[in-house]
Amino acid sequence: MTSKQLQESVSYLRKKGFENPEIGIVLGTGLGQMVDEIESPIVAHYHNIPFFPLATVEFHSGKLIFGTLMGKKVVMMSGRFHLYEGYAFTDVTYPIRVMRLLGIQKLFISNAAGAVNLNFKKGDIMLIDDHINLQGGSPLAFKNVAEFGDRFVDMSQPYDVEMKKKVVEIAKKENISLQQGVYAAVVGPQLESRAEYRMLKIIGADAVGMSTVPEVIVANHLRLPVIAVSVLTDECDPDNLEPVNIKEILDVAAKTEPKMIKLFKELIREL
Ligand code: HPA
Repeated sequence: MTSKQLQESVSYLRKKGFENPEIGIVLGTGLGQMVDEIESPIVAHYHNIPFFPLATVEFHSGKLIFGTLMGKKVVMMSGRFHLYEGYAFTDVTYPIRVMRLLGIQKLFISNAAGAVNLNFKKGDIMLIDDHINLQGGSPLAFKNVAEFGDRFVDMSQPYDVEMKKKVVEIAKKENISLQQGVYAAVVGPQLESRAEYRMLKIIGADAVGMSTVPEVIVANHLRLPVIAVSVLTDECDPDNLEPVNIKEILDVAAKTEPKMIKLFKELIREL
């Protein structure tokens, strides 16, 4: 990754009309309905954006959408890149750097995750308060990182404190039950074994998923205030573990997404 490549991606998007978005939004697996909320959308397919990571078959539908939401200009990622597809850390976080250069001042991230904390139920939304990186690498571990920012990036508050407060207030006001907790990121794509779920609980995770943490690290690298929410799609009880059901995970994500959309839209209104 070079600055020149990033600039080429950005100028392609600006020419298409992606002018000065204020907010970037990353939609997680099964969480695609929010795209329909955007007014006057302009769509850029990932495979047409210069230097965007080359999409796999599964993700040929990935696209960046620019438009208006609650009166503000936003840019939304429908489909993200995962390490488990074979991408490098710098690939999965490349779009975050592009959105930052387009001008975003805030980043909202969503994902589908398993509930490790058994007080949480599938269909709950968890505001991520902190994270554990179990992906065995970093999006900042590359030679010319200093061209882009600090190397030793602070992680004392990876998630923006002001926006977290606002989300909690909005959830109360809107009667949306909101959990808060620690998200552990693994590589995947296999799900966890019973012993791994036990370990995750012991080390302090409340939810587990295969994304988000690299993007959050890069947001911090870019001094870009970020918040993230997990839509909890399955309950990871090591003593009563059922075989994974991807269809059900996607169903639960889709059914729960309206609550997440409400939270994000109200947060945009308040910014
Ligand atoms: N583990 C990892 N990722 C996930 C899970 C899980 O249980 N559920 C949804 N995404």
